[in-house]
Parts: sequence; structure tokens; C-alpha cells
Amino acid sequence: MSVSSFHMIKFALSNPAAFSLDPDGPIPFVYRLITAKRLSATDLDLTPFRGKRILIVGSSSGCGLECARILAQAGCHLIITARNESRGEEMVEELRNGAHHDTTVKAMTLDAAYFESLHRFGADVQRLSHLDMVVLNAGVYRTDYTICPETGWEETLQINFISTYILSLLLLPLLLKSPVQGRLLLVSSEAHAWADIENHNLHDLLHSLNNPDKYNCYDRYHASKFLVVLWAQELSHRLDPQKVLVASVSPGYCLTGLFRDFNTKTFSYWLERIFCRSAENGACEYVAALANLDTTSVGRLFANTTFYPPSRAASSEIAGKIRTSMYQNMAVIMPGPISVLLQLDQLDV
Ligand SMILES: NC(=O)c1ccc[n+]([C@@H]2O[C@H](COP(=O)([O-])OP(=O)(O)OC[C@H]3O[C@@H](n4cnc5c(N)ncnc54)[C@H](OP(=O)(O)O)[C@@H]3O)[C@@H](O)[C@H]2O)c1
Repeated sequence: MSVSSFHMIKFALSNPAAFSLDPDGPIPFVYRLITAKRLSATDLDLTPFRGKRILIVGSSSGCGLECARILAQAGCHLIITARNESRGEEMVEELRNGAHHDTTVKAMTLDAAYFESLHRFGADVQRLSHLDMVVLNAGVYRTDYTICPETGWEETLQINFISTYILSLLLLPLLLKSPVQGRLLLVSSEAHAWADIENHNLHDLLHSLNNPDKYNCYDRYHASKFLVVLWAQELSHRLDPQKVLVASVSPGYCLTGLFRDFNTKTFSYWLERIFCRSAENGACEYVAALANLDTTSVGRLFANTTFYPPSRAASSEIAGKIRTSMYQNMAVIMPGPISVLLQLDQLDV
């Protein structure tokens, strides 16, 4: 049996919610996965992206790279990120090939596992005059507990939530300078709804998720994506939607490098190839979300071509408590040099 099948069965048996028929449960999720329309690039209208300056964080592979490839056809100004300079340059070459003649592509270096790299990126990016759209896509799904040595946070928590939180605030001033309504998309997952959260204080919750003896990889991944959904809600609540529109998005279950820790070439390997969407299908969800985001959909999760109302988990009493105290609680864990750059209270919103 592959690592993936073993983990899935163990997860299902240990979590009664896995058998729930609630619309947010895994069984309806699989049903939607099979029946929902799989968007392809030809279904998309790229005119809203023409001439826009768009940053995609985590665009060196998977859905992020496919999103950049689609938008390169729009005649826009793309900024992509990679963990190192040579990969960034490789991608720029790749994306320029066959792009719309008005498209420009530029790469920036960012490793979201390091506060130092986030800080450097945050300072570099402020040299831009503005950004029109941002997709915060970087994410990992680690099966083994892996600590980020510089930050002290477990990698899934660090990349999926903590860095996404920091980047959203670092980039907001540039979105506020957009001559049109800025658009910010935080990549989450429908699996955020399976997070089993008992702790209503974010500070304690993060420290408990960071404990190697508590929680498994599923709980940690679900919790990280749950916090992203809550942050999209909270941020959209704090911002004037006439200036910046914020939402979260799920690409759906896609065959990408995300599951690299799980896969071996056995039964589940082939099963995933039957049920999974392609990275391009997932990227199309990002592009459709950006195009359709308006003042009625802010704070919501876009998945399967639709903006959904908040899941049961994201609208629970605990979620409300975490969400409303998120900004204050996160301020406590921010390293000094970064917190200087994050002044949401002082933004003109
Ligand atoms: N695939 C799915 O079924 C699925 C479902 C729901 C949600 N999602 C979410 O969709 C997003 C994209 O995932 P994917 O499926 O396209 O997986 P992927 O192919 O593994 O892509 C993940 C992206 O994140 C980047 N990344 C990882 N660690 C990073 C770090 N330390 N610093 C900067 N960038 C980093 C990767 O860069 P490298 O190329 O350098 O590794 C890559 O560009 C993730 O947020 C994921 O959680 C995926």
C-alpha cells in the first residue's frame, strides 16, 4: 500500500467527520470533484487582465505556474516569484515564449520559509509604483513534521498561513495604489472545512499546532488553510471594497507537486490520475476568481467556478473568535523588522 493510501485510511478511521454528508464533508467534496465543470484556459475571458500588473507568489510549479502561463496570454505585466534567482530566470524565459506580444514578465526571489527573505522581498517590492492583482499561492503539504530553522515554525504553518498573512499585509499598500480596484486572492482549500479546531485563541492554537507531539499532517494542513479562509474574511471586513477586493480560492484536488511526500507508483498513484484535475484546471479557478471578484463576493471562498458562502467551520463561534483577534495575535509573533513594514492601522482604508 502506498504512503498516500495508508494515510488516507488512517485519517478516515480516526476522524468521524470524514464520513459526514454535510455539504462541507469529504463525501460531497468528492462528488463535486467528479461532477463540477473542469475549467480550461479556453473557457476564460482574459480581457479584464489586459494591461494589469499582476503578482503571483509561488509560481515556479503547479497551479501557480499554470496561472502565470494563462495570464501571459492576456497582454499583462506579470511578476512571478521563485525560491532562487536561476529558477526565476528559467521561468521568465519559459513564460515569454509564446506569450501575448504586450505581456512583460519579471521574476523576484522569495523563500517563504524565511522571515529574512520575506523582509527582503517586502522591501524590494515597495519599489513598484502599484499592483493591480495579487495571488498568494505558495503552499506545502508535509507528511513529516518539518521545522523551518530560521522562524521556528512548522513548515506547513509557516508557508501556508504565516507567510501568506505577512505577504498580504506587505502587498496591501501597493494594491491600494492601483488605479483600478486592487484584487487580492489567498489560495486556500475546500479541505479548510475539515479543520478540527478546539482552541479559540490564535496564539495558543498556533503554538499547539507547532508541537510535534500533537496533531497529524492532515490536521495541520486543514488548520493552515482554515486560517487562510478566516484571514481573507477578516481582511475583507477591514478593507474598503471600493479600494481592494479580497477573497480566498481553492484550485480543487489537482495533480501537482503538492503531494510529493505521499506518492509512490501504486494503486493510489493511478487513482489520483483518474480523479484529480490538472494544474491548468486548478489555475483556471484562480483566473475565474480574479475576474469575478466583486463587492458581493469579498471574503468568500471561490471553488468549482462559484463563490461559496462560509463553510460551517469558517462561520462557527470559535472561527469568529479567532478571526476577530487574528490581527492582534499575529502582531505578537511577528519579528521586529517585518512588523515595522506591516502597518495596517496606518493604511488609508
Ligand atoms: N493540488 C491540490 O490538490 C490543491 C488543493 C487545494 C489547495 N491547493 C493549494 O494550491 C496551492 C498551489 O499548490 P500546487 O498544488 O500547485 O502545488 P505545487 O506544485 O507544490 O506548488 C506549490 C508552489 O508553492 C511554492 N512554494 C513551496 N514552498 C515555498 C517556499 N518556501 N517559498 C516560496 N514558495 C514556495 C512552490 O515552489 P517550488 O516550485 O520552489 O517548490 C510552488 O510554486 C497551494 O497553496 C496548495 O496548498 C492545492
